[in-house]
Amino acid sequence: MRLAAHFASVALIAATGLLAACSSPDSAPEQAITSPILTSDEAQDDFTFAQPEIARVTHLALDLNLDFAGKSVAGTATLDIQAAEGAEEIILDSDGLQIASIADAEGNALDFTLGNRVEGKGEPLTIAIGVEQGNPRQITITYSAAPEAEALQWLEPEQTAGGEHPFLLSQGQAILNRTWIPTQDSPGIRQSWEARITAPNPLSVVMSGILGGEPQSADPAEDGSSRRTFSFKMDKPVAPYLIAIAAGNISFRELGARSGVWAEPEMLDAAANELSDTEAMIDAAEALYGEYRWGRYDMIVLPPSFPYGGMENPVMTFLTPTFIAGDRSNTGLIAHELAHSWSGNLVTYASWRDGWLNEGVTSYLESRISEVVFGEKRAGQERALGFTAVEEAIAEYGEDALITRLRTPDDLNPLEYDSTIVYDKGATFLHTLEHHIGREKFDAWLRSWFDNHAFQPATSEMFLADLRENLIGDDAELEASLQLDEWVYGTGLPDNVARADADAFPEVDASMAAYADNGALDGEAWGAWSTAERMRFMRSLPSELSADQLAVLDDTLDLSQSTNNEILFLWLQAGLSNKYDPIVPQAQTFLKTVGRNKFVEPLFEAMMETPDWGVPIAKALYAQTRPGYHSYTRGQVDVLVDLEK
Ligand code: BES
Ligand code: ZN
Repeated sequence: MRLAAHFASVALIAATGLLAACSSPDSAPEQAITSPILTSDEAQDDFTFAQPEIARVTHLALDLNLDFAGKSVAGTATLDIQAAEGAEEIILDSDGLQIASIADAEGNALDFTLGNRVEGKGEPLTIAIGVEQGNPRQITITYSAAPEAEALQWLEPEQTAGGEHPFLLSQGQAILNRTWIPTQDSPGIRQSWEARITAPNPLSVVMSGILGGEPQSADPAEDGSSRRTFSFKMDKPVAPYLIAIAAGNISFRELGARSGVWAEPEMLDAAANELSDTEAMIDAAEALYGEYRWGRYDMIVLPPSFPYGGMENPVMTFLTPTFIAGDRSNTGLIAHELAHSWSGNLVTYASWRDGWLNEGVTSYLESRISEVVFGEKRAGQERALGFTAVEEAIAEYGEDALITRLRTPDDLNPLEYDSTIVYDKGATFLHTLEHHIGREKFDAWLRSWFDNHAFQPATSEMFLADLRENLIGDDAELEASLQLDEWVYGTGLPDNVARADADAFPEVDASMAAYADNGALDGEAWGAWSTAERMRFMRSLPSELSADQLAVLDDTLDLSQSTNNEILFLWLQAGLSNKYDPIVPQAQTFLKTVGRNKFVEPLFEAMMETPDWGVPIAKALYAQTRPGYHSYTRGQVDVLVDLEK
């Protein structure tokens, strides 16, 4: 208790320093700022071994070598630590790290123990840091990550567009970075960081930090191979799940003054073309929520095995290539990842139980950015798709189901969430706030929320308290109209919900009514529809369709020829759930290259639902495709498809 109290005052001083640094941008070079640790019950993270009130990491310096042949990342991590008075040890998170040695700043060896593995959490790495030494203190860990480190995916050349060079990518969120970085892997323990990474020529390295000048070349080795060293710096404290790396045969193309895209040369034109709205999105987001504080906004378009659509790694959003449709119709994804530069990266949840605070708020921001950049119609339709999904999910789970809560209750695992609830119910909550409060007033408050908590962790409780203190005040009528606690802690949809426009798709819904009535299909109308409209149509199809009906759908709407992966996915899903033989080869081809879990998991699930037809297809296919998937996708599909039986 005493330790915690002492530490709280250290944190307070640090936070004051932060405010000073922000209010005078013209003053001397910005000092690395230390982000406070939250000590409330709601901020506790059950998925870390760290005890940050006793000793915490403030800065991390990596010096690592990438070995593609050995699938190994090895080198040193130097940690700056702030410890409470009397603290004797610091506890870090590890998951499979091989620790060679740990030393203090003078090079003296420090004792450490790697504790027993706890399923789903890894091992605590406890290091004796010596009571007498003052703050800050520094330790250096010499280590390597295991070849099977779950954050990392080592791709064979065949998995890339160029087909000639290997590729490395990482995915840290939620708790995977402890498989390759020895630090306190908890979102509430923000750290600034820097890195020196060496990679074999001709591969280039990118990270979620600012690249420091030209890479340094070393003299060629005896076998003629040579390596380059890339340096990166993130001078702002970030949640450690946001540290990310990718390396491959990649090139850069500028998009605007502060934005650009990395991709394999084969992909670069298509990527840059698809991303041409990026600067407009940054401008829109800044106008709504204040200055973009990260300097650059670059992106990398990865090979298709990347397990997510996008990941908001600061200054370097990671993207699946499957969002590229040729017509920029899936770029809500960019609005989303960019929005995390405020909701999530600037103001982070302290605990995974507040997932909505990151993803729900971000989905709302995405909608607001889309409205500015793409117009009200597209934004309204995308919102309606999300809202319909929430209604369907709640109907399926039941209104009282705990999983429909925004703040995850104690007895559920917050890493096993339903994304429709976290993202779309979360966004619906903010649309509801906007509706009852008024756009102007709500926007001003949300902007101040980001400003006041910049580079700090937050909780649901803080969000509600700030709203009450700075916006609602003693307006009892407004307070009653918002039903805040009902939204954050209750299940289902509160009755003050601001519903999305039920009539966002008049033409599509009329077409679907005609199809349901007499099988009428209008290929010409379909041809003129937007991606959102086509998705609405596909999602409204009857779940049972005969082979004849599927053949007519494909003939009339050219579904198997779709160049939009969102549409193609819905088509494959419809076919596989209805045992449609002609679709199997295309589904196999798709699943052999695409590792994006949002597509992969439901397609295997569809096959596994028909024991007589789909199960053998799924098993044979998964045995082939599993090695090419990232650990996250493997984990999701492993529970569906049991290859042992
Ligand atoms: N941060 C998420 C991805 C994520 C969530 C990774 C949880 C690990 C754990 C990212 O911002 C995201 O939401 N991506 C979506 C984009 C979509 C909602 C536009 C995706 O990948 O599909
Ligand atoms: Zn997100």
